[in-house]
Amino acid sequence: MTTLRDQPCLITGAASGIGRAVALAAGEQGAKLVLTDVDASGLADTLAALNERGARVLASRALDITDHAAVRAFADTVHAEHGAMAVLMNVAGIAIWGPVEQLRLEHWRALVEVNLMGPVHVIECFLPTMVAAGRGGHLVTVSSAAGLFGLPWHAAYNASKFALRGMSEAMRYDLKRHRIRVSLVCPGAVDTGLVRTLRIVGIDQNTPRVARLKQRFQRHAVSPAEAARRILKGLEKNRYLIYTSPEIRLGYWFKRKFAWPLERVIALIGRQLEAVAREQNR
Ligand code: NAI
Repeated sequence: MTTLRDQPCLITGAASGIGRAVALAAGEQGAKLVLTDVDASGLADTLAALNERGARVLASRALDITDHAAVRAFADTVHAEHGAMAVLMNVAGIAIWGPVEQLRLEHWRALVEVNLMGPVHVIECFLPTMVAAGRGGHLVTVSSAAGLFGLPWHAAYNASKFALRGMSEAMRYDLKRHRIRVSLVCPGAVDTGLVRTLRIVGIDQNTPRVARLKQRFQRHAVSPAEAARRILKGLEKNRYLIYTSPEIRLGYWFKRKFAWPLERVIALIGRQLEAVAREQNR
């Protein structure tokens, strides 16, 4: 069972959404926080909220997780001042969707750099020290429902999020003997800044049809605080797969046992998205 009290805990993506909510919830549970995000002002807001609540923050730094040297320098400082982390939480990520024929190399690269290489940099810079400390711990990576199912318009995002599932599955075997647990978080819709920053390549997002689809997403979405609660509950119970919405758990069950109803639902989503593209290309 992973409890966060007094545990040094690194969280990426702490300036917004799920990362910020996890930082607040972990702070409330008595974790000793090490926080980072590329968004310096959002990170400052999170720090102010944590201070108000009397949470313990060991260190924080605004950096881009695609910059290996910056992650390395932060890890060196943190290790020198505070020793090994007990919990690593890879939360930072971006979303770019779009019909595959519209996706350009820059979109594929950005998703792989942030969503995959970001966590790789964190793991490569922080995990060996955790292993060497010999005190066990927990490695948590936020993938997505798009790490479980291929979805229309998601080819590049799917690639980055499936990769996180592959490496997490492998690391479970590698890290078991070091008593480091591995969890993969597969959120469904969460109402965060991502809904605003999402890029849909080749699609004008300012149309009534797209607005309706976004509203539907937000109606289904859980709040960041609820997602954080479920993530920390999953850690406490040592779950490998952690869901933040019950329909994703159900969908993955269907995928493993009984694929066709799920495929029909996904195909239906695909037809709705095609309708958006057709309307705009008229
Ligand atoms: P968000 O946009 O509210 O937060 C993401 C954070 O990551 C931001 O603070 C952003 O500044 C940071 N970030 C982005 N690029 C970075 C970089 N290069 N270096 C350092 N920090 C960077 O979004 P949200 O929803 O909280 O996303 C968190 C994670 O959850 C992401 O990995 C996302 O893919 C995943 N997710 C979100 C879902 C949703 O419905 N919101 C659904 C499934 C997965």
